[in-house]
Amino acid sequence: MTVTDKKDIIILGIESSCDETSAAVSRNTQILSNVIANQTVHQKYGGVVPELASRAHQSNIVPVVDQALREAAINISDVDAIAFTRGPGLIGSLMVGVSFAKSAAAALNKPLIEVNHMQAHVLANFLSLEGQEGKTPSFPFLCLTVSGGHTQIVRVTSPLQMEIIGQTLDDAAGEAFDKIAKVFELPYPGGPLIDRYAQSGNPKAFNFPVANLPGLNYSFSGLKTSVLYFLKKQLAQNPAFIAENRDDLCASVQYTIVKTLILKLKKAALETGISNIAIAGGVSANSGLRKAVTEEAVKNNWQVHIPPLSLCTDNGGMICLAAYFKYLAADFSTLDVAPSARFGF
Ligand code: KG4
Ligand code: ZN
Repeated sequence: MTVTDKKDIIILGIESSCDETSAAVSRNTQILSNVIANQTVHQKYGGVVPELASRAHQSNIVPVVDQALREAAINISDVDAIAFTRGPGLIGSLMVGVSFAKSAAAALNKPLIEVNHMQAHVLANFLSLEGQEGKTPSFPFLCLTVSGGHTQIVRVTSPLQMEIIGQTLDDAAGEAFDKIAKVFELPYPGGPLIDRYAQSGNPKAFNFPVANLPGLNYSFSGLKTSVLYFLKKQLAQNPAFIAENRDDLCASVQYTIVKTLILKLKKAALETGISNIAIAGGVSANSGLRKAVTEEAVKNNWQVHIPPLSLCTDNGGMICLAAYFKYLAADFSTLDVAPSARFGF
């Protein structure tokens, strides 16, 4: 029997690249369980502390995997392969997931599948939640992958063939959200809070610069600096400026980031002639971005795919899905595989 003759493929997927410990079980492209343990320990530091993240993964991994198997009603011996995030990410965090997956694969004599975290974000667009089987993007498509560590425009030719055609040259979009949120005295991670306060604010209240680099690349570090200088001036006159203008500040920053993201996405669609568009990564949970992409779809005749909110941020389900395609291609890893903080594709 070849791998593709088997009817149902059950995968246990493990994600530990940053500050979420997650394990999921999938049957083909359907998620049976997707357990995520968030690490609250970083909040008081205003960002992820790598050593604390690694320690939290160590204490979370066994109960998270256990719960994922229980919720899926799958015995570990019935799993066809064990998948894990090899990178990119924090090396100490990746190490925990990689070691766990390797040990489990060795002990159970199961195939091991390494997954690129950023490719998995893209492939989250192919996951279906139970009872919500929906449409998936058609190939080729462009995916705007926006997370805490990366901002990429990816040309996706097939599930395993992807090419980055544009990316940030400095901060990622999520990083910009989080760093600016910190300036606004919001706790980490600030992206979702900026989104929440932006709902009641005026997006045109304050004017921040939209970076427009040549080609399809992004830059977000200038925005952070410009917000910082703007606030410094305002706070000198009114120490309560942030508190009094929080919603408008959040709405204006979100508007600027979304406008910047859409600018190059439109350019990429025009240059490649590709009108199938998807978004992925933590920042694709942003309501302003979801709305803007939907509006641009109407204006530009795009076929747009937006993943459900629960599959935008880091989760084991997306690791399962990337691994599912690799399983079909019999693309397995050996037990000497090591984590890679800067794992590219
Ligand atoms: O993909 P992800 O979960 O982890 C990484 O691989 O980085 O993305 C996390 C990022 C954080 O920067 C977080 O602030 C941002 O996604 N994020 C959001 C929203 N939800 C998560 N940013 C803006 N609006 C949101 N609703
Ligand atoms: Zn991610």
